[in-house]
Amino acid sequence: MEYENILVTREGNIAIVTFNHPKVLNALDHATMTELSAVIAELDQDNSVRCIILTGAGEKAFVAGADINELRAIASAAEGADFATRGQNIFFKIENLSKPVIAAINGYALGGGCELAMACDIRIAADHAKLGQPEINLGIIPGYGGTQRLPRLVGKGRAKWLILTGDMISAQEALRIGLVDFVVPTAELMNAATELACKIASKAPLAVAWAKRSINVGSETDLVTACAYEACQFGLICGTEDRIEGTTAFLEKRPAQFKGK
Ligand code: COA
Repeated sequence: MEYENILVTREGNIAIVTFNHPKVLNALDHATMTELSAVIAELDQDNSVRCIILTGAGEKAFVAGADINELRAIASAAEGADFATRGQNIFFKIENLSKPVIAAINGYALGGGCELAMACDIRIAADHAKLGQPEINLGIIPGYGGTQRLPRLVGKGRAKWLILTGDMISAQEALRIGLVDFVVPTAELMNAATELACKIASKAPLAVAWAKRSINVGSETDLVTACAYEACQFGLICGTEDRIEGTTAFLEKRPAQFKGK
């Protein structure tokens, strides 16, 4: 499908989703969020896609947040709550997608942009990127999951520091506190993201999907329940052809040919 504010390109079994509205630093307006939701649904259905990279057009911004014009125009408390819930639901879809999603943060990841990156599985930042939750400067709070995912990633104190001051931090500082997982020179960002995506895409797809699910579900519950959940997922993976293929290939000293079955 063709989209107005988002480009979707393919490199083998990797899909690269680029927010393409650099004039407003790829800010997420209502139309772009509608497109993002459709893109995610499309890629979810497409069995030839094994891994997804999200990035922004231009060198300046990944995503500079929700559209501040739309935030200004919110007419009531109920409309505000709907605005937040809609965005949260789209980000939940990304977080719970069976395919891993890598954020290639090529510049500003602010507000909704930082929240979007946090809903992804792995975050790689260009060394000039800047991240933050500046909503406090607009008289509002994060509404696309920022008050929840940020403390889970970096701890309550650091989350409060970032959210209550609205300070932007460098990619290196984000790496230090665990907000991003890797920092690379800007020129190498897409190569690094693609290389990682290809490596993941070469693995057994059901094992990738169920490992992701086990980590996501387990990290929101207590350890005993989480391990019981892991055991169920392990049981399911033992029922796959790829488990036979992976273990047999190792014993026969040959590369495995995974089928996603
Ligand atoms: N919503 C709507 N428009 C935005 C935007 C957003 N979140 N972020 C940037 N833009 C627009 C600017 O209004 C400007 O438009 P204009 O050219 O019509 O004036 C254009 O994008 C370029 O931004 P500008 O501010 O001129 O770039 P800069 O390099 O001086 O500053 C930032 C970059 C990211 C520091 C600055 O744009 C900014 O603070 N943006 C808002 C970030 C934010 O608060 N996000 C959270 C929203 S919940």
